[in-house]
Amino acid sequence: MFNDKDINVGIIGGGERGMIYLRLCLSGIREGIHVKALADPDVDKMKSLAGTFYEETNAELPRFYEDYREMLDYEDINVVFISSSDTTHKEIFLEAVSKGKHILLEKPLATTIDDCKEIYKASVGYSKVIKLGFVLRYTGFYKKIKEIIEKGDLGRVISIEAREILGVPHAGSYFRRWHRFKKNNGGFVNAKCSHDIDLLNWMVDSEPVYVSAFGSRIFFNKKEGAAQECKNCDLKPECRYLAVELPPDAPDYYWHTQKDYCVFNSEKDIVDHEILTIEYANGVTAAFIANMFGDRDRRSMTINGSEAELKADLTEGTIQITNIYPKYTQTYKIDKETGGHSGGDEGLFKYFIDAIRKDDDTDGANEVKRGLLSSLVALSGETSMEEKRVIDVREYYVF
Ligand SMILES: NC(=O)c1ccc[n+]([C@@H]2O[C@H](COP(=O)([O-])OP(=O)(O)OC[C@H]3O[C@@H](n4cnc5c(N)ncnc54)[C@H](O)[C@@H]3O)[C@@H](O)[C@H]2O)c1
Repeated sequence: MFNDKDINVGIIGGGERGMIYLRLCLSGIREGIHVKALADPDVDKMKSLAGTFYEETNAELPRFYEDYREMLDYEDINVVFISSSDTTHKEIFLEAVSKGKHILLEKPLATTIDDCKEIYKASVGYSKVIKLGFVLRYTGFYKKIKEIIEKGDLGRVISIEAREILGVPHAGSYFRRWHRFKKNNGGFVNAKCSHDIDLLNWMVDSEPVYVSAFGSRIFFNKKEGAAQECKNCDLKPECRYLAVELPPDAPDYYWHTQKDYCVFNSEKDIVDHEILTIEYANGVTAAFIANMFGDRDRRSMTINGSEAELKADLTEGTIQITNIYPKYTQTYKIDKETGGHSGGDEGLFKYFIDAIRKDDDTDGANEVKRGLLSSLVALSGETSMEEKRVIDVREYYVF
């Protein structure tokens, strides 16, 4: 039997994100973490990706399962990371709850409003730790902005604008992988920017009431003269979205992830630009812009308060506050943190493990509510774009 403070981990979803959790578990940034098993229907891929970490660390190899349910049956696993594709989140979360595991569930919460509501209901009163993959909340950068608001340095928050702009490789990846279909992720903003919507909700500190959005796909459409896959394409020399060249002996699973699809000629239905607006219960308004046309990945935010304006650029690591009266400017330079998502990956990982060790299971339903509200906004944005109307998201509240 294990001591409940032992962290015996099962990772569900052995893709890119699952490997990040595997690396964090093996990294030693928290002691006493034992990775017992990984589960993914694509067993060969999972074994091949995970194997490289074990070669590096000499740690004992975990068990591998094709069916995550078989893995969850084992009582020696008390902690699960759910890093499988978005449409699986509800089913796997509910199963993990029924087996009493501590759970870190990746964002977005789910891909439909009904699934989000079911996950939320299951989280109410659950007596184990639940955290979501909202890694940006754990960065020094966004924690600083929240602290500035709470200290009152901006006066009363009136409105917020935020942007997430993808650079070339990141934008390209969205038109190659499963993310390019709404049925797989609930749309681009739900998949990619559920972080950003969560940040808006967190900074405004109120519940979203009305949502409207405009967007479409203008650029990533069928292209004359381009092939279906980069490896066979005559436009290779001039295409900035060229897929990474793979060696001829690259394992099959790599091709199965469709990374070599032409970003123009691939089938898809997500947008390449969207503007979404929100009115909150406390009267604050927010505007969020997502698009795929940056020189590199960028996130930025402007907050207008009654007393001062805050301009923040995550890529530059700068937060500038301009006081209105008397006029003066104050600038914070936030040191770059190591690790993925500006240190957020490590921050969330440590927070989750520490919460388990402290038996701090008090925030589970609240945490899931954050995921619910973020996805309600993103998914309502999809409806608003399609139906050209403002959505009152209160009809979906279940709390
Ligand atoms: N927090 C973040 O910043 C962040 C960043 C990237 C991805 N994510 C999220 O992590 C999740 C995984 O994304 P990814 O980029 O690793 O995708 P991926 O395609 O690389 O990996 C997903 C894996 O899930 C597996 N899978 C599918 N059905 C499964 C099932 N029933 N049981 C177990 N495994 C199953 C797939 O075979 C695949 O290997 C997504 O929900 C994504 O939104 C979060």
